[in-house]
Amino acid sequence: MREIGGQVELLEFPDPASPGPDEVVIEVETAGVGNWDDIVRAGAWNVGLTPPMALGVEVAGTVVAVGSQVTDLRLGDEVVGHPLPLRHQGCWAERVVVDAGLVVLKPRGVPWETATAFPVPALTAEQVLAEALKVTENETLLVHGAGGTTGGLIVQLAAMRGVRVIATAGPSSAARVAQAGAAEVVDYHDSRWPDRVRELTGGAGIDTAINAVPGGSAEVIVALREGGRMATITGDPPAAERGISVADVYVRPDATQLAELCALLGDGRLTVSVGAALPLAEAATALERAVSGVKGGPVVLQVKPARTGD
Ligand SMILES: NC(=O)c1ccc[n+]([C@@H]2O[C@H](COP(=O)([O-])OP(=O)(O)OC[C@H]3O[C@@H](n4cnc5c(N)ncnc54)[C@H](OP(=O)(O)O)[C@@H]3O)[C@@H](O)[C@H]2O)c1
Repeated sequence: MREIGGQVELLEFPDPASPGPDEVVIEVETAGVGNWDDIVRAGAWNVGLTPPMALGVEVAGTVVAVGSQVTDLRLGDEVVGHPLPLRHQGCWAERVVVDAGLVVLKPRGVPWETATAFPVPALTAEQVLAEALKVTENETLLVHGAGGTTGGLIVQLAAMRGVRVIATAGPSSAARVAQAGAAEVVDYHDSRWPDRVRELTGGAGIDTAINAVPGGSAEVIVALREGGRMATITGDPPAAERGISVADVYVRPDATQLAELCALLGDGRLTVSVGAALPLAEAATALERAVSGVKGGPVVLQVKPARTGD
């Protein structure tokens, strides 16, 4: 984009310079697209750059140049990352220069499209569960919006920790959400769904809840028990009531966490199913799709033509 709020269009920038001492240059295979990229476009999320700039905060690709002080990455390494703050350009580009400390090795056998759709949702899921809410085994957790990419990963990570998950999802996602580990799936199209969640807890209300639906927090808090804990990832924290604590959570780059999450992705304990891969020239369409609410998995940008055998 040329300016804050500007349209998404193809721009020509000079080839990236040599990497700084702590940087690597990545030849981009795929780049992630989320409705958060529109928040960047609108100027409401500072990712470290001012326009004109390439958007994109998730990357997967191959290291093609290594800074003099980088010791743990080599030429040819296949990496993935959420490399914020962006230092030179965003990830919707053929090449991008990033802080080497913010990318990790792509798990072997994971397709490029899957790898690039993973960092922001996975980091958010881990941070909201482990840091914001400190959800523990044997608690009951409501995940509102479990049919989405981030909500789905929250369900998977929570179930892995032995948490009993009650999830909201539509009919087309219900089976997948149950497969991800939700003990109960409630259809959010029923406006009384928070009462249904309360009924599933014997009437007392739920211990902990995560909202992953824009504007969904006001309904979520209804399902919580007195003194419960909730977090929202959509920037809509409700006013505190009945002693309930509310956290407003935003993703943070964290390579150590991302490496651990990638290990789970690599061994199949976490899954993300990509909906569509569009070429870089169709970035505007990809972003429109992400903003309008993607059914059937996230959209990614296939920057390099797909190779067979990936
Ligand atoms: N704070 C942060 O750092 C952060 C990080 C990541 C994501 N987010 C935000 O979290 C939200 C979800 O992200 P995402 O990646 O999971 O998005 P997504 O994959 O685009 O979510 C789409 C899904 O949302 C579900 N949905 C739509 N309206 C719903 C409603 N009223 N009730 C329940 N579910 C509903 C639909 O599920 P069904 O198929 O079940 O109908 C749909 O498949 C986005 O707004 C995103 O910006 C924030």
